[in-house]
Amino acid sequence: MRIPTPADFRELESWGLLADPMAAVSDYSDERARRREDNERHCRARAEYEANADETFVADSQAYYRDLDRPIDRTKWAYLKRRKAWFHPPVEWGRFAAPGTSRILDAGCGDGDGTQRVADFIAGRWRAAGYDGFPLEIVGADLSASRIENARRHTESPHEKITLRFEQDDVAAGLDYGDDFFDYTLAMGFFEVLDERFDDALSELERLTAHGLYVRDILEDYPGLSARPDLDDALAERGFDVVARHRIFEEPFTESGTEDPLAVWPMNVHQVLFGAVRDPVAHDTRY
Ligand SMILES: C[S@@+](CC[C@H](N)C(=O)[O-])C[C@H]1O[C@@H](n2cnc3c(N)ncnc32)[C@H](O)[C@@H]1O
Repeated sequence: MRIPTPADFRELESWGLLADPMAAVSDYSDERARRREDNERHCRARAEYEANADETFVADSQAYYRDLDRPIDRTKWAYLKRRKAWFHPPVEWGRFAAPGTSRILDAGCGDGDGTQRVADFIAGRWRAAGYDGFPLEIVGADLSASRIENARRHTESPHEKITLRFEQDDVAAGLDYGDDFFDYTLAMGFFEVLDERFDDALSELERLTAHGLYVRDILEDYPGLSARPDLDDALAERGFDVVARHRIFEEPFTESGTEDPLAVWPMNVHQVLFGAVRDPVAHDTRY
């Protein structure tokens, strides 16, 4: 990825997310997904990605992330934060800003750009409502020490009542928090990188989540990633009511190829789910 320029940032602005942060949801249709196959640039990008997929990642993504050493500079971090906003629409995020939310976990938080977006969203909602907020801690946990370093370096609390904290940890092995410790948990591109450890990771998020789980995950075959079309059933079996499920493209649909000036990824199809805990424990019995 080359260094993004101001023109690249302006190009992302033209995606219209400021006016409609959920634009990806209405942009997707199954018919368009089929039409991607006539899109030469998309097909080429997919073929190139498949041919060049990192062998270490494909063989063992857990080892790959654990050993990763990839500092990211501020400009790239900021570009990817805006770029990924397309395929992480704020589905049901209004719940995070409601009074009573005091802890959120971002599982597999990577460089913390998504964590930052969640914090910014909540602070924005509070300010728009003329509300002072309440103490809220957002914890990002990731297997990669290098990514946790990036997250600590680049994130910044957008509000005096919001604390951002990052820890290197293995979510699938279990985190050192009590049951229902977090009001909400996030799994953005997290389940997709897990193979046989997926069940353990989902069990752990089920254990830690008091109210709801937001998921964004790939929905088609991709080297090293696991697509789970039945993820909604898996969530339902773990006590979540799936109150929202959307298919989205990784970037705005276009006949000609890609709208992303840096062409970071092909136009893959993903799913975004929100699982509300069916029988939430009463707030005052949790802490
Ligand atoms: C595809 S990246 C997504 C990162 C970020 N959530 C985002 O949306 O950009 C997957 C992340 O999951 C992390 N990860 C993989 N296995 C993990 C595990 N067992 N525990 C915690 N994090 C893990 C990786 O280190 C990586 O940062």
